[in-house]
Amino acid sequence: MIQGSLRKVVIPAAGLGTRFLPATKAQPKEMLPIYDKPAIQYVVEEAVASGVEDVIVITGRNKQAIENHFDRSLELEAFLRQHGQKANLAEVRRISDLANLIYTRQKEPLGLGHAVLCARTLVGDEPFAVQLADDLIDAEVPAVRQLWDTAVRYGGSVIAVMEVPASQVSSYGIVAGDWVSNRVMRIREMVEKPSPSRAPSRLGIVGRYVLSPRVFSILERTRRGAKGEIQLTDALTRLAAEEPVFAYRFQGTRYDVGNKVGYVEACLAYGLKDREAGPKIRSLLRRMC
Ligand code: G1P
Repeated sequence: MIQGSLRKVVIPAAGLGTRFLPATKAQPKEMLPIYDKPAIQYVVEEAVASGVEDVIVITGRNKQAIENHFDRSLELEAFLRQHGQKANLAEVRRISDLANLIYTRQKEPLGLGHAVLCARTLVGDEPFAVQLADDLIDAEVPAVRQLWDTAVRYGGSVIAVMEVPASQVSSYGIVAGDWVSNRVMRIREMVEKPSPSRAPSRLGIVGRYVLSPRVFSILERTRRGAKGEIQLTDALTRLAAEEPVFAYRFQGTRYDVGNKVGYVEACLAYGLKDREAGPKIRSLLRRMC
C-alpha cells in the first residue's frame, strides 16, 4: 500500500563514469553540464518539483564536487554581491536552498541494487523514489510526481518504462506483464540487459522508480547478477512476486545523458529552449549541417 506524500528520493551517483573519460577523470559525471546546468541539478529539481523533501545522494570517492554544488559558497556569494551580479547571486543561493541534501557513500562499485541498499537506514520504512542521473526527463508534470501518483492510485511500486528499439534491449532492464490501463502494466517478468532473442518485450526501464521499502530486505539477499553486480532489476523481480509492481509509460521527453550522442542531444535540446540563445543555436545548427 502506498499512500500520503512522497518525502524521500535516492540518487545513486557513485559510478566512475568510464564512458565519459577523460572528461570524468577528476570530476563526477553527474556534474557534467547539460547546456548550462550539471546533470544532477536537473534531477534534484525534478525531485523538488515532485514534492520531495529529502534528497539522498549515494556518492563515492572523487564526488565532493556534488556536495560543493548544493552547499553555500560564501566566497562566491560575497564576490557576486560586491560586483552587483544580482541574478547570479540569486541563482547560486537558490541552488543551495533547493532541498535537504543527505550524502552517504557506496564504498565499492557493486552495482545499482547495492547503491540503493546503501540508503536503507536513511530511507527507513517508507516508500521512496529512485532517480538515475543518466536519465533526464523533460515533462510538464515532473516524472517522479507522475510515478508517485500512479503508485498511490494502483497501490504498488512503479517503474518508469518506454519502448526501445529491438537493437537496444541489451542496454536496459526489460519488463513484461499485463496492461491494466493505457499507460500502466502489472509486471510479471523483468530481465536486466537481455540479448534481443531473450527479451520478453521492448519495454525498457528508464531511471525513475517509486519503491516499497520491502525492496531493502530483498536487496540484502540478492546475489550478483548481470556484469557481476547486484542488480536492482533482479530485486524488483522478487518484489513483484510478493507485492504488486507496475510499469508506467511516463509522459515527457527522456534524454539518455549516459552516452555521448544522448549527451549532445540533451545539451542541444535544453539550449534550444533557452529564450535568448535558442534562436542562435538553431541557426548555428543549420549552418553546420
Ligand atoms: C540501469 C538499470 C536498467 C535501466 C537503465 C536505465 O542500467 O540497471 O535496468 O534500464 O539504468 O537508464 P545502467 O544504464 O545504469 O547500466
